[in-house]
Amino acid sequence: MSQKRETWSTKVGLILAAAGNAVGLGNLLRFPSKAALYGGGAFMVPYFISLFLLGIPVMILEWVIGRYAGKRGHGSMTGIIGLFFNQASWARALGSLGVAIPVLIVMYYLWIESWTLGFSILSLLGKMPEPVKTPDLKTAMEPYLEFFRNYTAPSLMAVLFLWITLIVNWIILQKGVSKGIEITAKIGMPSLILMGLFLGIMSLSYNNWAGLQGLKFIYSLNFSRIKDPMVWVEAAGQIFFTLSLGMGAIATYASYVRPKEDVVKAGLWTAGINEFVEVVIGASIAIPAAFAMFGASAIPELAKEGTFRIGFMTMPAILLSLPLGEILSFIWFLLLFIAALTSSVALIQPLIAFFEDEMRWSHTKSVTVSMMIVLFGSHLCVFVPNFLDELDFWVGAVFLIFFALVEIFVFIWVFGINNFYRELTLDTTIKLPKIFVYVTGIISPLFIFLIGYFWFKYKLVEVLGETDPYKWLARIFILFFVFLLGVLAVISKKRVLEGPRI
Ligand code: TRP
Repeated sequence: MSQKRETWSTKVGLILAAAGNAVGLGNLLRFPSKAALYGGGAFMVPYFISLFLLGIPVMILEWVIGRYAGKRGHGSMTGIIGLFFNQASWARALGSLGVAIPVLIVMYYLWIESWTLGFSILSLLGKMPEPVKTPDLKTAMEPYLEFFRNYTAPSLMAVLFLWITLIVNWIILQKGVSKGIEITAKIGMPSLILMGLFLGIMSLSYNNWAGLQGLKFIYSLNFSRIKDPMVWVEAAGQIFFTLSLGMGAIATYASYVRPKEDVVKAGLWTAGINEFVEVVIGASIAIPAAFAMFGASAIPELAKEGTFRIGFMTMPAILLSLPLGEILSFIWFLLLFIAALTSSVALIQPLIAFFEDEMRWSHTKSVTVSMMIVLFGSHLCVFVPNFLDELDFWVGAVFLIFFALVEIFVFIWVFGINNFYRELTLDTTIKLPKIFVYVTGIISPLFIFLIGYFWFKYKLVEVLGETDPYKWLARIFILFFVFLLGVLAVISKKRVLEGPRI
């Protein structure tokens, strides 16, 4: 089946789609939770260092390689890594890890996304718990904690909202890159930014600008924990996660650019918008709102571990106690839903690209099979205890780090410094100096190695001693899925060698 590969239809659309890819629950939930957990300003120092040494270089790397591979008919890491080794079987199988990672992430990401949709509708309908009047954040959160537990138990309603979420994703992906993803981003991203600015200004100004205390907590940069390796691991992990790096998702989007697109500019825009939504908007909503209402006494509550506490318990407890609280809570969860939606489609697209470019399946068949896989996996996350956490841990942390190393090694060292530099400076108005290639090729991987080392040192023993059978089930599932994609990558090799699909 030979059909032309799709392209983004406008420059603005391309940037907004890529920004939608990066901006997600990571910016609005994961970031404030990690920042609070690791001491606000103490977290931000490794965070910004990681952004410049790791985030921006790898972002541009994925864009440059995505354009290069797209011109040659490949949009998934299977074909992209394969390109540099004559489509050798082992290279395609290795690349398939870069398809497996986003799919495994989306299995739990969609489940969380569906909570945001559910909570936004329930807020609007006045079906959220009544707020309690109390000066203590912990007490204020109690009804919402219980509500959250019952909802995700799972309740029938939660499963219904999951199905709605799956259908919405399905429709967008079926419509394709420019008519589905691009249009969703063109409507979604500006609305998201407006709603975010509104909630941010509201949180900061509430109670005579008491919320500014919260912003101060995040931005009083200090070096107190600079020697704590876990803070580094978490900060670098957050940069990878929030920028959608180390899993080929950015490269897949970049493979749909027109041949002469300025990808350096696009990469900088993607990182820029993502960081704006993270460190400006994301930092201005939840933590400042908690400070404004409960003062500095809120810190210990905010700093407890758990990505979902701030978004699904603290925020409704605060917003619903305000005038027009139902509307505010609706806006908060709708904001989260839009952010998640434009990311979840980006997490599924690499698998679709794999089926289309490598298996040479039709668009409809590719989308249908992809959604069946995602549907199955997301139900596992709903019904099997600890599945979500286990996937997040392995795929969202371990595999990411490993695969980012593979990307750097192949795209810079195997491809060659000079070849990469030629691609980097091709058709762009921003001519980066060659030193940039060395930073990406040497400093970034060293940084990743260091982080990987600490990670192993602190976590490996704990991980291998695991006795929970559900966690082992999740691990087997991950291995099985990675293996399956690897086999498909090898089987599809023949079709790809028959000739390019451009
Ligand atoms: N960046 C997304 C967020 O902040 C999450 C994410 C990680 C992602 N990897 C991705 C989204 C790949 C799309 C594609 O929530």
